[in-house]
Amino acid sequence: MDIKKIAVLCSGGDGPGMNAAIRSIVRTAIGHDIEVFGIQKGYAGLLEGNFRPLDVSSVGNILQHGGTILQTSRCLDFHRPEVRAEAANLLKRKKIDALIVIGGDGSFNGAMSLHKEHGISVIGIPGTIDNDISNTEYTIGFDTAVKNAVDAVDKIRDTASSHERTFIVEVMGKKSSAIAYTVGVCTGAENVLLADAEDNYSQVASDIKRGVERGKTSSIIIVGEAEKPGLSYRVQQILQDEHQLPAHVCVLGHVQRGGSPTPLDRLMASEMGHLAVTGLLQGSTHHATVVQQGRVILTELENCLIKKNDVDPWLQELVKALSI
Ligand code: F6P
Repeated sequence: MDIKKIAVLCSGGDGPGMNAAIRSIVRTAIGHDIEVFGIQKGYAGLLEGNFRPLDVSSVGNILQHGGTILQTSRCLDFHRPEVRAEAANLLKRKKIDALIVIGGDGSFNGAMSLHKEHGISVIGIPGTIDNDISNTEYTIGFDTAVKNAVDAVDKIRDTASSHERTFIVEVMGKKSSAIAYTVGVCTGAENVLLADAEDNYSQVASDIKRGVERGKTSSIIIVGEAEKPGLSYRVQQILQDEHQLPAHVCVLGHVQRGGSPTPLDRLMASEMGHLAVTGLLQGSTHHATVVQQGRVILTELENCLIKKNDVDPWLQELVKALSI
C-alpha cells in the first residue's frame, strides 16, 4: 500500500522520550514525502477529530523535553467497539493511511482492535515508564524514571544516614516490578517489596536490625506501587506494630515521570520512531517496534498485548546478595 498520510498519537501515562519519538516519526516521514498529523490527547482526541499537521519545524527543539507535545489521555470509551468504529471512520474520512500509537499495553490493545475490526494499519511504539510490555526488553521512559527515582533515593540516603533512620520509598510501576528492582539495585536498598508478593516482614525487620548491628547508619526499603499509591504506609504500620521498627515513608509519585529524557530514552525513541515509519513503507500493517537482544526490530503487535510484571530473579538475587 502506498503511504501518503500518517497520524501519530500518545496514549496512557506519558513518559520521557515520547517527544523524541514524535520528532523521529515526523522527520523520517517527511524525508519520504509522507504527510504527518499529530492527534492531541490520545484516543479521546482522535474521537474529537483533534488533528494538526506536523511539519519539520513543529518538532524542533523538543527531543530534550519530557512529557509529550501531543498530550495524552486514558480513554476508557475506546474499549467499546462502536466507539472504535467511529474512530476508524474518521481516520478513513481524513484519508490517513496508518496510525502510529505511542503507549503501553492498553493503548496497543486499542490499536490492535482498530486493525482487526476495521483494517486500519497500525504501528505501536512502547512508551511507558513501567517497562512492562510483553516481548520487548525496553519501553520508552523507563531509564529516565529510574534515574529520577535513584536521584531521589540518593538524597533520602543522605538524610537517613544523618539521622540513622529507615526509610520506605515507594516507586511507580503499577504492579510492574521493573522500576522497583532496578532502583533497589542502583541505590543499594536493603529490601524491595511488591504488592502481590508474599512478603516476609519478619525477614525484612531482621535484615534491617542485622544491618544496624553491624554498623549501618541507614536502611532503605523500596516498595513498588500497587494498583494505587500508598502501600508503603501499610508496610510502615506492620514494621512498627509487629516488629517495633520505626520507619519514615516517602512516596515519590509523578516526579518520576517528568523531566528531560536520558540519552538512552532519546536514542531508543529516535530508533523506534524511525523504524515505525520505514516499517510502514515496507508493508508492516499491524506491528510494534520492540527491543530484542538489544536491537530495535519490528514484531507483530499481537505479541505485545500482554502486561509483563514478573520479577526478574537475577535482580531479586542481586538486591539480596549486595545488601548483607
Ligand atoms: O503506567 C504508567 C504509570 O506512571 C504507572 O507507573 C502509574 O501507576 C500510573 O501510570 C499512574 O497513573 P496516573 O498518572 O494516571 O495516576
